[in-house]
Amino acid sequence: MKKILHIISSPKGGQSFSIQLGNAIVEKVKAAYPGSVVKIKNLTESPYPHLEEATLAAFYTPAENQTPEDKAALSHSDQAIAEIAEADVIVIGAPLWNFGIPSVLKAWIDHIARAGVTFKYSEAGIEGLIKDKVVYVAMASGGIYSSGPMQPLDFVSTYLKGLLGFLGMTDFTVFRVEGSAYPGQAEAALQKGIASIVL
Ligand SMILES: Cc1cc2nc3c(=O)[nH]c(=O)nc-3n(C[C@H](O)[C@H](O)[C@H](O)COP(=O)(O)O)c2cc1C
Repeated sequence: MKKILHIISSPKGGQSFSIQLGNAIVEKVKAAYPGSVVKIKNLTESPYPHLEEATLAAFYTPAENQTPEDKAALSHSDQAIAEIAEADVIVIGAPLWNFGIPSVLKAWIDHIARAGVTFKYSEAGIEGLIKDKVVYVAMASGGIYSSGPMQPLDFVSTYLKGLLGFLGMTDFTVFRVEGSAYPGQAEAALQKGIASIVL
């Protein structure tokens, strides 16, 4: 069995392609590993706050020197990192918004990327500290970015691969529902994306 963490960042509920694709990935993981359990984290229902002065001050205060105020400022980050630590498989729904990710997903990322906790610099170089995770990204975009003229604008997959890899999550695969904005193509794009899922 696997512990699956499904991160949702589309506000579109049942109409969302990234959620439907993410759900299909979750179902495949459950089929491959009977008894798997899923925790759904909907960032649009419970968004993380932007990093503030107090959060950043606490990020850079060694644990032994942290005040109760620092610990309170770290609570969101601690919770997000603990949820990742508990999971074996992380499914991240990533709608493409203006060539980037929704700000709720970026806010979550800002809370999980923490020097000394999820990555560190040492004489040996940079080390990601979140190990042994399998990450599947469920991308959804109106246009097509995996090939063709828009491919140079495929920032989201490269950003997420780079960022999560930096934190140690190097077992990373992207599946896509793409081209749904083309007239009459939405359902075919969804079915093609779901059919592309190979674990
Ligand atoms: C605010 C917003 C910005 C968008 N920007 C882009 C874009 O830059 N490129 C693109 O191909 N599609 C864009 N789209 C279309 C979405 O990528 C597409 O609807 C996708 O299915 C959204 O994921 P979801 O269905 O999981 O919500 C945008 C949609 C919204 C709502």
